[in-house]
Amino acid sequence: MEAINMLDLQAEFRHIKDDVRAAIENVLEHQWFVGGPEVQQLEEKLAAMCGCKFAAAISSGTDALLCALMSLGIEAGDEVITTPFTFFATAGCIHRLGATPVFVDIEPDTFNINPKLLESAITAKTKVILPVHLFGQCAEMDVINDIAVRNGNLPVLEDAAQAIGSTYRDRPAGSLATAAAMSFYPTKNLGGFGEGGMIVTDDESLVERCRMTRNHGETSRYHHAFVGGNFRLDTMKCAILLAKLPHLAGFQAARVHNAARYGALLADSPVQTPAIRPHNKSCFHQYSILCDRRDELMAHLKECKVGCGVYYPIPLHMQECFKPLGYEESDFPVSMEVAGRILSLPIHPMLSDKEVEFAAAAIKTFFEG
Ligand SMILES: Cc1ncc(COP(=O)(O)O)c(C=O)c1O
Repeated sequence: MEAINMLDLQAEFRHIKDDVRAAIENVLEHQWFVGGPEVQQLEEKLAAMCGCKFAAAISSGTDALLCALMSLGIEAGDEVITTPFTFFATAGCIHRLGATPVFVDIEPDTFNINPKLLESAITAKTKVILPVHLFGQCAEMDVINDIAVRNGNLPVLEDAAQAIGSTYRDRPAGSLATAAAMSFYPTKNLGGFGEGGMIVTDDESLVERCRMTRNHGETSRYHHAFVGGNFRLDTMKCAILLAKLPHLAGFQAARVHNAARYGALLADSPVQTPAIRPHNKSCFHQYSILCDRRDELMAHLKECKVGCGVYYPIPLHMQECFKPLGYEESDFPVSMEVAGRILSLPIHPMLSDKEVEFAAAAIKTFFEG
């Protein structure tokens, strides 16, 4: 068996290359590299896919979070509630605006923000709640939205960077709150050719604000109502994403299939396979198991040439840069425990059944022997 990697972007490309090359050729012909027609086309497609009225294409998922928070009016002194068990960008964007990330621990099985702990974290300074749909499974949005309504109609921003194509109670990720930020980072389920992101929302004035924010707060040429940034997504990247979009459902189905295979193969092993709530459909951006002796298992998988990864080894309250927030390690025990036991296995759409079986067998051999 050849090495089984966490991703096989070359193989994915072989499936789509004719469509992608045609899209690139088209942009080369029209030469409209910023703000070309493909930008709006991608916005319309993504909005429809997410069940939203509007979308704004943004330079990355990080910038989508930042631009959305700026457009929601977040500024110094504000508090934004989020999870400590996420990619750094979620909290980094809050901090960059001079606001304070207020962390709330996660559920032990879904790894998403624990709604039972959320309300007690709300203060007079809370301006936004920012749940993350980690690994593709949506956070408990109905409960989170109820809490937001009860507490002065707080806006809720979904970090849906990992959840394109997921649903919660049959509603798509991205349509579940005030607005959502998506990522097209190349390793994401809808991975672009470089950085990329999107904000989706039903709120017309918010999307207008986001569009101005991504363009230096410009209202009309050389008139700036406020200070924004350059958060635009290139036409070329939008054209490539448009070409990839029709293939997404097939790739997604392959991920779901692989997850089901792992579930069956690992059912009688000592590892804990992902707990997807009955009302959730995950796009399986990652397939993350919990296990004891995680680091030894990683070393064993490496020997067997099975790729794996730890997302995320250090919860954000333990990051050097957030020391001034004054958190103790013990403040978020579930995040700490999960960070020490979690391991993500290859789940990408190009895996064969044999490869999934090989990876699962390698895990079982480790615990048997
Ligand atoms: C949960 C989460 N939020 C935000 C981001 C930021 O997205 P990007 O890498 O496109 O800036 C990522 C991407 O890795 C992510 O996984």
